[in-house]
Amino acid sequence: MEKLVIEGGAKLKGDVYISGAKNAALPIMAATLLTDEECVINNFPMMRDTVTMAKLLESLGKKIKYGKNKITVTSNGKPSHVASYELVSTMRGSFCVLGPLLAKLKKATVSLPGGCVIGVRPVDLHIKGIKALGAKVEIENGYVIATANKLKATHMYLGGVFGSSVLATANIMMAAVFADGETIIEPAACEPEVTDLANFLNKMGAKIKGQGSPRVSITGVKKLKGVTYSIIPDRIEAGTYILAAAITKGTITLHNANLEHLMVLVDKLKEVGVNLESKNNKIKVSPAKEIKPVSITTYPYPGFPTDLQAQFMALMALAEGVSIITDKVYPDRFIHIAELDRMGANIRREGSIAIIEGVKELRGAAVMASDLRASAALIVAGLAARGKTEVHRIYHLERGYVDFDGKLRSLGAKISRVQEK
Ligand code: UD1
Repeated sequence: MEKLVIEGGAKLKGDVYISGAKNAALPIMAATLLTDEECVINNFPMMRDTVTMAKLLESLGKKIKYGKNKITVTSNGKPSHVASYELVSTMRGSFCVLGPLLAKLKKATVSLPGGCVIGVRPVDLHIKGIKALGAKVEIENGYVIATANKLKATHMYLGGVFGSSVLATANIMMAAVFADGETIIEPAACEPEVTDLANFLNKMGAKIKGQGSPRVSITGVKKLKGVTYSIIPDRIEAGTYILAAAITKGTITLHNANLEHLMVLVDKLKEVGVNLESKNNKIKVSPAKEIKPVSITTYPYPGFPTDLQAQFMALMALAEGVSIITDKVYPDRFIHIAELDRMGANIRREGSIAIIEGVKELRGAAVMASDLRASAALIVAGLAARGKTEVHRIYHLERGYVDFDGKLRSLGAKISRVQEK
């Protein structure tokens, strides 16, 4: 196993290229199950999660050819409707094969994804949605077994305790593409990754309207065709580099990035004192004189993304005053607090709220990554800490960032990979 060793204090400087969005790539890959024709996916982020999804597709009857930042998906002539525990349990995103398998093969047996360190992550909305379309659903031995000879279009309410669900919206959108008539999902998730999936499906020949709004309509079609498509830039990866620049008081330019997907971060960072400017898919980050404390609450898009909560907390750890961070999407997503505190931060948790008293400096320490975005937050903190930070269990990081340490090194960070003893 490897660890990352960071010598803190270097201001980030220079240019960084943002990869395709992981959370758009996963459902788009699943959507290729809806056709037997060839699909080419460009701006493809090569990382552990997308490779896991590729393996899952192979087990479901696809052939994958890897190219430079792209994959080509074709059929191997042996479709299967069984998504195994071995593959689904390692990555929750793979649960979104349920909708396309059901639509294409009229049956789907998909392992339940299981727990996750960021809190309980149920799939009740996914199941509610496919039942509303007329599927028969049973849960047996940890698998969801869904069957439907014919799915029927319907108008459904798909909100949960925490609002809309990204992957449930994706699953139901894909399940409904061949259903007779018009399906309406309310409230649909408005995340750009859901819009990207709808655009991909429309290019394949689907009739989806309203994507990006809380009311999405899907009019069933008979067949979908193979297409070539380019995935949107990863707004969470972009946000992570922006926050890394902000904490080191660096000046960097992001390429292949879309600031329109990060309006809440622009707004909040303006209050912090950091300036973001965008032109032609580039984002320039200019530093704050002093980091002002700013409180945030995470919400579904266009609210502050829960996937940037931990990284923003790392920045607030060094703010000149007190800030409050509330997570309304995953109220238990706070494991990083203890690790940030080991680095000298002063953060305490009360339920789904973190109270952060800014400190003058963070100090390097050995810390443990617990999930994907928490890992990124610890690295962001390490970049600004005095002395050496060692981040262990970085396999979490590799699930969802393309060459994170390499890109940081190209921005001047002193970060290296070391084999654990
Ligand atoms: C997606 C993202 C993840 C991000 C999350 C929230 C992918 C692959 N992952 O996850 O990175 O953190 O959106 O922006 O796109 N919920 C239910 N019942 C369900 C489904 C969800 O109660 O059936 C709850 C969840 O526990 C959570 C909230 O709804 O509290 C939002 O979750 P959801 O949008 O479904 O997250 P994912 O789609 O799994």
